[in-house]
Amino acid sequence: MRSDRREYSGCMDRSGKGRIYLVGFMGSGKSSAGKCLARDLGVRFVDLDERIELASGLSVAEIFEREGEGEFRRREAAALRETESLPAAVIATGGGTLTRRENRDFIQRTGTAVWLTAPLDVMLDRCRGGARRPLLSSREKMALLLEERLAGYSSAPLRIETEGLGPQEVAQLIALRLQATA
Ligand code: S3P
Repeated sequence: MRSDRREYSGCMDRSGKGRIYLVGFMGSGKSSAGKCLARDLGVRFVDLDERIELASGLSVAEIFEREGEGEFRRREAAALRETESLPAAVIATGGGTLTRRENRDFIQRTGTAVWLTAPLDVMLDRCRGGARRPLLSSREKMALLLEERLAGYSSAPLRIETEGLGPQEVAQLIALRLQATA
């Protein structure tokens, strides 16, 4: 592991800011791969949904239920901005984070976004039993939501296909791609 860290250090992300944002649809593997990547790089891992829950004292599902999606998005944008004080980090965003222009601008300004993706059915399969995903519904609706969000995700300079890969393999692929483009 140590030698891996040496290999990655200094060329972690091409913005040179040492901050990597994992973006993509629900079930794309942002949190699981993010944890592995942060460990391999020896930097902090931040899960945006977790930070929203900590800051509000409510679960994601409760925020949606009691306050609505608009308030969740406001809390999400605030949690994202608060990560700016952190030094190098791997940050797993939520599937809807890039729907806000201000979030896309913030991410572009403060680090490098990596879009994780897989065929819709694979992503939905990975989402089974997700308590943090109140938007999850029929395949038809999810296909539409994904379609709406593609423009936002594709604003990321790197795209990684995760079908058939485990979190550690995805993390290694991200590190290699970041190195190649640094
Ligand atoms: C959401 C995705 C979730 C979570 C919330 C909203 C979305 O995160 O932020 O339920 O709008 O797609 P994951 O992408 O980690 O599931």
